[in-house]
Amino acid sequence: MAYPQSFIEELKMRSSLETVIGKYVELRRAGSNLVGCCPFHSERTPSFTVFPEKNFYCFGCGAGGDVITFIMRMENLDYPHAVQYLADAAGIDVPREEGFIPQKKKEILSRERNFEMNKIAARHFHSNLMSPEGAEGLQYLLDRGLSPAIIRRFGLGFAKNSFDDLYKKLTQCGFSVEEMKEAFLCGISSRGTPFDMFRNRVMFPIIDTAGNVIAFGGRVMDDSKPKYLNSSDTPVFKKRSNLFALNLAKNSCLGAEGATGDRAKSGEMILCEGYMDVIALHQAGFSGAVATLGTAVTPDQARVISRYAKTLYVSYDSDEAGRRADEKAIKYMNEVGVEVKILKVTGAKDPDEFIKKYGAESFRKLMTGASGQIDYRLSEIKAKYNMEIPEEKLSMVNEACALIAGIYSEMTREVYIMRLSDMTGISRDTIASDIKRRTRKNTYVQKQQVAKSGEETLRHYGDRINPDAIKSVRGAETEEHILGLLLLYPEYMDSLNGALYEDDFITDFNRMVFSCMKKLHSEGGFDISSLNEHFTPEQMGRIHSMYRRRRALTVNDIGILSQLCKTLKQEKEKLSAPRGEDMTLEELAAYIASKSKGKQ
Ligand code: UTP
Ligand code: MN
Repeated sequence: MAYPQSFIEELKMRSSLETVIGKYVELRRAGSNLVGCCPFHSERTPSFTVFPEKNFYCFGCGAGGDVITFIMRMENLDYPHAVQYLADAAGIDVPREEGFIPQKKKEILSRERNFEMNKIAARHFHSNLMSPEGAEGLQYLLDRGLSPAIIRRFGLGFAKNSFDDLYKKLTQCGFSVEEMKEAFLCGISSRGTPFDMFRNRVMFPIIDTAGNVIAFGGRVMDDSKPKYLNSSDTPVFKKRSNLFALNLAKNSCLGAEGATGDRAKSGEMILCEGYMDVIALHQAGFSGAVATLGTAVTPDQARVISRYAKTLYVSYDSDEAGRRADEKAIKYMNEVGVEVKILKVTGAKDPDEFIKKYGAESFRKLMTGASGQIDYRLSEIKAKYNMEIPEEKLSMVNEACALIAGIYSEMTREVYIMRLSDMTGISRDTIASDIKRRTRKNTYVQKQQVAKSGEETLRHYGDRINPDAIKSVRGAETEEHILGLLLLYPEYMDSLNGALYEDDFITDFNRMVFSCMKKLHSEGGFDISSLNEHFTPEQMGRIHSMYRRRRALTVNDIGILSQLCKTLKQEKEKLSAPRGEDMTLEELAAYIASKSKGKQ
């Protein structure tokens, strides 16, 4: 699906990036750019930059793109819905001729109608719960220890044991069965009869931060399966980026005026697995609790959390799956700069059970004593080895020393050297000197890493967008220049005949960008916006910076392009040449440093 380029151009012209972003981020002028604190990750010093050429880039987390990317990311919309959103705001019509509109000409259920319908459904479920027909559901919730007040606060409800109770209600309110189906409220049987999706279940509405009901979970009241039925993804609900109870938890994290940015965050959130865990926690006074709903935290959810929280207490179930989920949380929360503390609910299977058994005060103690990630990792390492066997103990110490050597602050390292010494009975001096040896090795590379915060360094060292870049920094650079040129002048695609193939690319990400451009070009042309649909906002950030870097240069003619293509081929050949030409890590760091010096 593609929109006409003229339409996208007009849309972008009418949607001032400055105004659109200004609704979410406090921007101030810095030279010809505007800067502010990035809404997509947690930061104190502004690295989120809006450029005069109508794109943005965050030097901290790498998010970037144009006004469409921004809205996709901020409002959690896919490409067509972000286009629709901006078009609505600008008061222009989205072209709807055949071929231009997604989903086979079917009208997209407007977000407003979807919200409205979900709201009616939530109210209906709630009034069921309070009616005689919902007695069984209400009793179930009360038996699980919920107070009437908390039932109201979470808007819990009941779906009757009926195939058309909600269907009738929504029909009365003027909604079509297609709309109900799209919102996962009704299904249509093979005989064409509509039926309610949720039947004979207690209902948990999922509400976004703007207060819209966007999905439901429904629990059976006995041991039948599936225990919970959840809305699948709909146009207004993406499971991987929403969190249950975020609507309530965000208030406990943000200042009263709902300001965004770091200064407003008091920021403690508790992350758990299930609906009941969250509700039990809120009832016990922990109003920063949210749930990922049965899965480990995703990078998208991590970013959402980082908007509100400085510290995240992870309180997953005390089973193997929960432990694996802890690891993911540490990884993704680290990436967005949120401190993680791991709670271990011992003696209970989940926080809900823990609070029932031991009380809120005990949970508070768990939080106070929660280990940071280093402690957590240390104990994980220790658990792997039998400390009675000298070889195993040595391996444990080795692994632990490697972990501690990676800690940046010397003081923190000191603390953990003591900890490790206590754990193992090995003297502090011995451990300290081993760690010193390791840090000396690391220091050179680290210095380069820490001292340089330029786009260049971020780009190729531990590059998350294009991890392959490490294979050939020069190759990846060349690719980016080629892609930047092609983005600047898509018409150059025509003159590439024979000069550049997908196979010439060294790195997967850049190859992907190229083949996407090639495909779009063969389908009638592209500009940088057309890529939005195929790449994530982080990837778009990279793509925009390729474009920007090329645009900043004065000579961008065909001659340069063919020179770059030649260089790329040479770099590729070098890679297949015998090793030995490879740069060591230190050389690589020096190379990157020299490059970024030249750029700044
Ligand atoms: P659990 O099985 O740990 O359930 O699943 P729970 O939250 O402790 O539920 P109760 O206390 O028995 O009522 C954790 C979460 O995983 C999702 C739900 O979001 C649930 O809250 N889940 C679980 C499902 O989506 N479907 C299922 O069938 C089970
Ligand atoms: Mn439970």
